[in-house]
Amino acid sequence: MAYSSIDLSCGDGIATLTFNRPKALNALNTTLLEEFTDALNSIKKDESIRVLILTGAGGKAFVAGADITEIATLSPLGAKKFAQNGQDAISTLQELAIPVIAAVNGYALGGGCEMALACDFVYASEKAVFGLPEITLGVIPGFGGTQRLPRLIGANRAKEMIFTGKHLTAAEAKEFGLANKVFAPEELLPAVLEVAKLIATKGKASLCAAKQTIGQGLNADLATGLSIERDAFALCLASPDAKEGTGAFLEKRKPVFTGGLNS
Ligand code: CAA
Repeated sequence: MAYSSIDLSCGDGIATLTFNRPKALNALNTTLLEEFTDALNSIKKDESIRVLILTGAGGKAFVAGADITEIATLSPLGAKKFAQNGQDAISTLQELAIPVIAAVNGYALGGGCEMALACDFVYASEKAVFGLPEITLGVIPGFGGTQRLPRLIGANRAKEMIFTGKHLTAAEAKEFGLANKVFAPEELLPAVLEVAKLIATKGKASLCAAKQTIGQGLNADLATGLSIERDAFALCLASPDAKEGTGAFLEKRKPVFTGGLNS
């Protein structure tokens, strides 16, 4: 599929997906969501990719939300389908086996904030602005915000954000636990690339096992989570990457992980 609203580049185990509708501050319309899902499906099939970075083109926005020009014309049934499409795309992102980092370089509002919420962690520029302003449009978040935000930052803070529609600065987003780290604008992508490169040196099977175990454990009680962890640990230990990792430690050298998900 040729892309008009996103860019996808891959190399050295890292995929970078850039939302690319800068004139509309990278707002999510149906075309962009289709391209986004297609790109995620191609990333899934590429055994060599170990980390995905999401960012926005144009320097002003990560994603300024769902496309309001498209929303404004929808019938109730059309709106339900639009929300379903957005939720499906963002669930596909969250369910990706590999780690996903959001490099939030500007506005992450509405659907853009909801996109960031489904990433494994967020690094933000000092210029980043987070928020779920849908209430100001007379609607509510429709791409998972009412569900993922309270799970991440707690119901009280999520309700304050959703009821007021107020924007958060990058520093406030960090305080709320929405962003792990904040950087000067020019330092954001180098910092994200540095952490992505570090992650890409690790074994794919153990990266994916760690992500899956954390995700499944968060939806289970502690005893079930610990049981999931034991099984995943045992599976990892049987992998070629574990032989390489433990062997490299004992031989006092750096490990080189070449195993994939199927090895
Ligand atoms: N949808 C469509 N177009 C958008 C957009 C959006 N979400 N956000 C910005 N744009 C467009 C503007 O209409 C404008 O286009 P024109 O140049 O053709 O007029 C262009 O991007 C630049 O935007 P502004 O001139 O408004 O730039 P600004 O610097 O003055 O303001 C902003 C920036 C504060 C982000 C402001 O654009 C804004 O508030 N945008 C809307 C944010 C929003 O409400 N997002 C939630 C959308 S609803 C949603 O996401 C629902 C859901 O959960 C599924």
